[in-house]
Amino acid sequence: MRVATMRSPRLLLRNVNGRGIPARRRLANLSAQRPSHVTVLGEQYPTDHMTNISPTIVSKLPLKLHTQPSHPLSTLRALIESHFPTYAHLSSLSPLVTPYQNFDLLSFPADHPGRSVTDSYYINKDLMLRTHTSAHEVDVFGRGETKWLLTADVYRRDEIDGSHYPVFHQTEGARIVSANATGMKELEEDNERLVAHLERSNIEIEDVPHLSPANPCQPAHDPKHTELIAKNLKLSLNSLMLHLFGGRVGATAGNPLKVRWIEASFPWTTPSFEVEVFFRGKWLEILGCGVVRQATLDNANVPDKLGWAFGLGLERIAMVLYSIPDIRLFWSRDPRFLSQFQQGEITTFKPYSKYPACFKDVSFWLPQGETLHENDFCDLVRDVAGDVVEDVKLASLCSGMSKLALTCE
Ligand code: DAH
Repeated sequence: MRVATMRSPRLLLRNVNGRGIPARRRLANLSAQRPSHVTVLGEQYPTDHMTNISPTIVSKLPLKLHTQPSHPLSTLRALIESHFPTYAHLSSLSPLVTPYQNFDLLSFPADHPGRSVTDSYYINKDLMLRTHTSAHEVDVFGRGETKWLLTADVYRRDEIDGSHYPVFHQTEGARIVSANATGMKELEEDNERLVAHLERSNIEIEDVPHLSPANPCQPAHDPKHTELIAKNLKLSLNSLMLHLFGGRVGATAGNPLKVRWIEASFPWTTPSFEVEVFFRGKWLEILGCGVVRQATLDNANVPDKLGWAFGLGLERIAMVLYSIPDIRLFWSRDPRFLSQFQQGEITTFKPYSKYPACFKDVSFWLPQGETLHENDFCDLVRDVAGDVVEDVKLASLCSGMSKLALTCE
């Protein structure tokens, strides 16, 4: 059984500032200069000993990449939404939540590492940046939504590399039904429809039992009801995986899409699972999910319901679907990145140099009586500069003087 908690604490500031000042001393200096207030999304908030939000992070809050037309994260959000057309689609909830919403309402233990200032961003002790979209589960159930998707930016302090970024995007999905005969009938009918759909599809599922001693039914639930809701969860997500990955390069005819289920553990669900998909030669961790705990439903004031929830990270999926090699590219404003994409279309990212193109005019004399073909010059350029040179054009040739224009990357 894999116990999936939010990430464990890590050393945050490595001593890589290059000036020989230990990272810890630099941090201490920073906190000594703490201003009395911070402005976040146009509002002023008092700071305190927990405040650790930085100007770079504050600058990301208004961007909402998942709603920017033609951005890969927006296309992926819309693709997921199109798979759940009867669900409410939410994508503009504020990233500011209380630690109570982010952790306590979801039964996180008091000493959970995700609560620490080394792992999460705090405005002050009473207000933080959501670390996951599950932070809104209780509120959304509480407003009466029974089938919904919520896409948002989430924030976690993290290491710096090509696959980690302190801001990323998640889609949360959930469904609750009445915990009575009517609700069970609704699930049975939906399960029949989904089984028929999956039977017709090229998918291979490695399953685990809905319930096990390590992944038990909740005391307040009838095990038959839990079996039905867990089955509905698995069928719904298997068909979502098919929608996202099926039929794409790496999962073609004769080569079924492989999905595997793994037992997991989250504070607000049981039984809980993780889903992995075999795509382009690798098992990819896609999402966490489970049957929502009674305590969460009670907190949302919907105690007579039964339901499931899932949460998935958009960047990781977009990186494989679009072949985007570095998570930092999602934040690029470079037209060479943004102009590659169109809303609703998943296309393969075309790498470009991190430097802008540079143009060179080259002029030279040829010895008297010698001739040089343009192709001779091109071979010379290839020998010297390899594929860095994109384009060579003969601009003019005048009595012995050749002028060539080179475009280099
Ligand atoms: N919030 C979890 C995370 O960020 C993902 C998740 C797991 C969401 C299980 C859920 C769930 O709704 O039921 O890792």
